[in-house]
Amino acid sequence: MKKQYYVNGDWKSASKYAELLSPHSKEVIAQIPQASHEEVEAAIDVAYEARKQMAALTAYERAAILEHITQLFIDNRQKAADIISLEAAKPIKYALSEIDRTIETYKFAAEEAKRLTGEMIPMDAAKNGANRFGYTIEQPIGVVGAITPFNFPQNLVAHKVGPAIAAGNTIVLKPASQTPLSALFLAELIDQTALPKGVFNVLTGSGKTVGDALVESDKVKMITFTGSPAVGKGIRDKAGLKKVALELGSNAGLIIDKNVDLSQIVPKCVMGAFSNQGQVCISLQRTYVMNEVYDEFLEQFSTLTKQLVIGKPEDKATDISAMINQSEQDRALNWVQEAVEQGSEIISGGTIENGVFLPTILTNVSANSKVSCQEVFAPIVVVNSISSIEEGIDAINNSDFGLQAGIFTNDIQTAFKASKELEVGGVMINDIPTYRIDQMPYGGVKESGTGKEGLKYAIHEMTETKLVVWNQQ
Ligand code: SIN
Repeated sequence: MKKQYYVNGDWKSASKYAELLSPHSKEVIAQIPQASHEEVEAAIDVAYEARKQMAALTAYERAAILEHITQLFIDNRQKAADIISLEAAKPIKYALSEIDRTIETYKFAAEEAKRLTGEMIPMDAAKNGANRFGYTIEQPIGVVGAITPFNFPQNLVAHKVGPAIAAGNTIVLKPASQTPLSALFLAELIDQTALPKGVFNVLTGSGKTVGDALVESDKVKMITFTGSPAVGKGIRDKAGLKKVALELGSNAGLIIDKNVDLSQIVPKCVMGAFSNQGQVCISLQRTYVMNEVYDEFLEQFSTLTKQLVIGKPEDKATDISAMINQSEQDRALNWVQEAVEQGSEIISGGTIENGVFLPTILTNVSANSKVSCQEVFAPIVVVNSISSIEEGIDAINNSDFGLQAGIFTNDIQTAFKASKELEVGGVMINDIPTYRIDQMPYGGVKESGTGKEGLKYAIHEMTETKLVVWNQQ
């Protein structure tokens, strides 16, 4: 089916098209417009023109629009999930839970739109501040360029579009090349709301053309990006003085202390390592287990992993399907082979069967193997033994990344120590690093990026704080 892109409330054809293939069946599922540089610039002009009208909407009106989007996702839950499953090969049960999260994300955005406040400044606390009355207001930033990844084609779009609308901004969205259909479906839904035309625009096409045009435009005041560290760094280098929020992934780690109830923990670890084929920025990638419980953990972990159902994304029973494309599967396979050459042992998986990369557990992995020190973004997990909690903390911190980490322990001092010493944006005590709900602050340190998502935090990133001071004379 030949798709169109969405600008100024109109559907437009492009001069160039590219085939979109299903990652699992490899069949052509759509023809996707490849917007040119000029077409992107035209969309940016539209969003720039619309910014004053958008900024004039009241908080009540912005919240009502976001509530309407929420309701449209409730009404179209199955359809939106089917689209994700088709274009991203996300097993349908996970696609449905992504839509449930998307509903919550827009709901939180609607609520936060009503709480967008500044603060009083105690002017007379300074020697020269007497008889002055000061306060801040949070003003919309203007045009936001949103560049989104394939792994959560609706909810990670919601994390950019929701706060941008709540803050009173206009948006040009460039979805991942493999998952444009979800973003175009969002445009169909938004088209039914009272959002002024030109406020929300979706341009499909290559990162080089569409992404670069957004990053280089003087009319775009902020880029919000989720994706690879390499692309994120490139954006930062080219963005000049515009605001940049970067969510760049990680090699998330987990520590498992002794004296814990493994039967409660292991199912969570299987979910954390393998849901969405491990293509999650906070996927459990490195597991450090105390010697005392290591053998038992590995036994239970591999038993449950081998029970995962491999199959078509649309089947309700499927736990694991194809990765996003063949070259990613080949890369993951090369990384496993490299780890084995460096002394690792494969406990489970390590091969591709019927086009699906099997969930893979590796042990005795060197810290220098790519499966450990780089972001694996595949259904691969490292399980190594440790003889102390310090060793686990050091191993997790020995990373270029720092998004989220987890620790399972029954010792309160150990939990405090981990929360203090782990060099990450979020520490999950008695949970996997993969835990996320959508209102919590989410963002990393080191090469995991800059800026926070989570509605309240993202809205703050998407506004300018203006100070107003009255002199009472
Ligand atoms: C991500 O992969 O960055 C997002 C993870 C999530 O929202 O659960």
